[in-house]
Amino acid sequence: QTGHTTLDYGFVNTAATKSAITFIDGDQGILRYRGYPIEQLAKNSTYLEVAWLLIYGELPTADELSAFDERIRRHTLLHEDLKRFFSALPHTAHPMSVLSAATAALSTYYENESDPHNPEHVELNTVRMLAKLPVIAAYAHKKSVGQAFLYPDNSLGFVDNFLKLNFGVLSEDYDVNAVMSRALERLLILHEDHEQNASTSTVRLVGSTGANQFSSISAGINALYGPLHGGANEAVLDMLGRIRDSGESVERFVERVKNKEDGVKLMGFGHRVYKNYDPRAKLVKESADEVLEALGVSDPLLDLAKELEEIALSDDYFKERRLYPNVDFYTGVIYKAMGFPTRMFTVLFAIGRLPGWLAHWREMQGDAQTKIGRPQQLYTGATERQYPGV
Ligand code: SDX
Repeated sequence: QTGHTTLDYGFVNTAATKSAITFIDGDQGILRYRGYPIEQLAKNSTYLEVAWLLIYGELPTADELSAFDERIRRHTLLHEDLKRFFSALPHTAHPMSVLSAATAALSTYYENESDPHNPEHVELNTVRMLAKLPVIAAYAHKKSVGQAFLYPDNSLGFVDNFLKLNFGVLSEDYDVNAVMSRALERLLILHEDHEQNASTSTVRLVGSTGANQFSSISAGINALYGPLHGGANEAVLDMLGRIRDSGESVERFVERVKNKEDGVKLMGFGHRVYKNYDPRAKLVKESADEVLEALGVSDPLLDLAKELEEIALSDDYFKERRLYPNVDFYTGVIYKAMGFPTRMFTVLFAIGRLPGWLAHWREMQGDAQTKIGRPQQLYTGATERQYPGV
């Protein structure tokens, strides 16, 4: 059919969403942002250059990128009242809940500048989201560890400012570790978009009703939080820690997964689309050794993860189901080595995915999808029947 490609996912036909942003070939393990291979972007580009590429469709000129960076730096401050918003939440709150709530709260400061059909509002709020979400994320981290919030340092680039907001303290100067900065930039690039995944589809669906960027992104954050989606990077570290602390052999754990005992899954394995090695997981695994060595960190959980992967990839259960490591399998070990608490890992995923969410929200506002989102249904309920006595 023209206009709508009807794909059969095996359980229900659904009209495919049209998009020109990201291409994935799950069998070949191919991922391209606007046609550029993820391997080249991760190794040579920057978070903001890739954000521009995803949002506007072309790589920026040096002047465009410099002006984009400068605009973002000028919007990093949160309204002072919004900073007090965080004190209303318990210090035990999960940083993803804080991120989602504070993002929805952010929209209350710009209600008169959030018309999705006003190009100036759209541009301004794209910059505001890129500038302020990292600050909100860092405040969620600081709140969880009981430390004072820092002001953004506009003399620093995007990633370095984010690292300082997370790890700087008022009582000391903070020197950015160049290895950490480059490694985090690469990880963020690897997460920037991934086609119609659950959280991006959520952003598109909510945005298709006319909701603004803040509300749509807040909805996407909630979808990402789930352990089967972005929450998996946190769940992988919890899984590795449980295996280590239980003294259970890796072989025994894999047997429990295969027997589906207590619904246990090999977190960080499997994917809706990749039925081959997730190209992002390959890049993350490559840099894990390099980053931990450069940071002078040795973590037995990395060795445990490699052992788990080796056993799983040689086992017919996983081969028959085409289960391979996905982007979440190794990222947590690197985030942990950088000093991020485990509960911040999915927040880092959200900061990475933000440009993709914004790009899809904007594409959906254009002519790519002019109708309100409404997934098709295959009705399986009761046929018509009469009310008793009627
Ligand atoms: C992300 O969509 C995206 O692009 C997402 C993402 C992105 O960038 O946005 O790539 C990010 O979310 C990556 C995925 C992170 N989640 C996890 O690592 C959680 C563990 N993975 C699984 O829950 C699962 O693999 C999914 C949800 C990711 C994908 O599930 P599918 O494709 O719907 O596969 P399925 O649930 O139908 O499983 C098929 C079979 C089943 O066994 P049988 O019923 O045939 O016997 O494979 C088994 C499943 O039980 N299986 C697993 C498994 N994943 C699937 N068994 C053990 N461990 C796993 N991880």
